[in-house]
Amino acid sequence: MEKIRWGIIGTGKIAATFAKTLAAVKDAVLYAAASRTKERAQAFADEFGFAKSYGSYAELAADPDIDAVYIATPMASHFADAKLCLEHGLNVLCEKSVTLSVPQLQELLAIAKEKDVFFMEAMWMKCRPIYLQAKKWISEGRIGEVRMIKADFSNLVPYMPEDRLYRPDCGGGALLDLTVYPLTIAADILGGEPSEIICDMNISGGVDLSDTIILRYPGGAHASIFAGFELPLRNTALISGTEGSIILGDWFHCTCDAVLFDSSRNEAEKIQIPNQFTGYEYEVEEVHRCLREGRKESTLVPHSGTMEVMRLMDQCRKQCGLTFPGE
Ligand SMILES: NC(=O)c1ccc[n+]([C@@H]2O[C@H](COP(=O)([O-])OP(=O)(O)OC[C@H]3O[C@@H](n4cnc5c(N)ncnc54)[C@H](OP(=O)(O)O)[C@@H]3O)[C@@H](O)[C@H]2O)c1
Repeated sequence: MEKIRWGIIGTGKIAATFAKTLAAVKDAVLYAAASRTKERAQAFADEFGFAKSYGSYAELAADPDIDAVYIATPMASHFADAKLCLEHGLNVLCEKSVTLSVPQLQELLAIAKEKDVFFMEAMWMKCRPIYLQAKKWISEGRIGEVRMIKADFSNLVPYMPEDRLYRPDCGGGALLDLTVYPLTIAADILGGEPSEIICDMNISGGVDLSDTIILRYPGGAHASIFAGFELPLRNTALISGTEGSIILGDWFHCTCDAVLFDSSRNEAEKIQIPNQFTGYEYEVEEVHRCLREGRKESTLVPHSGTMEVMRLMDQCRKQCGLTFPGE
């Protein structure tokens, strides 16, 4: 596999950013774009330089020359779109949150296994060098035993009833769109099943506008998380241990800098790793690496981690009585 020929499903905002990224990544080929209408697919293909355009997702899934598909549709569509591609034997990178619920994710993982293809949630944060640097500091014992994580992800998102974020039928709400990031940090770094989950959601119009979550882990470590559409926060992540702490800067999931503090709260090290392009190149490179090595699962974004976060989100929704249409 010298070059990786990419297909994209959905032609919205993140699909455009991803297409720009692919154009800059060595060995990535902008091969095909699919939309629910032929006109949008053609316009997207023309704008970004895809060789082919399809007026339905099914036509793209049936193209045997695609090496990897990126799914960039709203959350409620991920299951059907990913299933379609996996059943055609395609390797899939699917946007976050990867599905609405645990049963959907279980089914996709089973199909991926049966078809022997690659499947990964597009949890780009986990592929970014600065996040990997923070994990390296932790594994080297630089902050001692991690006892506490505090991560916020909250933006002012104006109410627009037609926007996927405010539409229950699209899997809207803060949980699957924003809260998934701080939950991913907590699950990745503290790991395992929490002994206690406390979740409070502000629910309006069938979607959660904000989530306050506390996770307690056996042994006493805990994470406290706030995310939502109602407050303009700085969105940093603090990872605190017995001998120091790490702060991932503004927009911690897409930050390029991390600061390590020692037990006296002095700055011990500060690392900055600017993006090569948009910041999404690292997840693209991870997919390329996995495909070249014949892997069906990423080591940076393993299925087990994706499932752990999906379990947490299901439990939070259950606690607060939030369901999606059709559940
Ligand atoms: N990794 C990140 O940083 C990041 C950032 C933003 C979003 N995301 C994720 O990417 C996904 C898409 O987000 P977005 O902001 O790009 O959304 P968006 O701008 O609304 O685009 C979604 C696209 O999906 C397609 N689609 C299929 N079914 C649809 C439906 N029922 N309603 C609306 N659109 C539908 C549409 O493309 P066609 O009409 O061409 O079929 C649409 O353009 C979400 O899962 C989100 O969580 C990730």
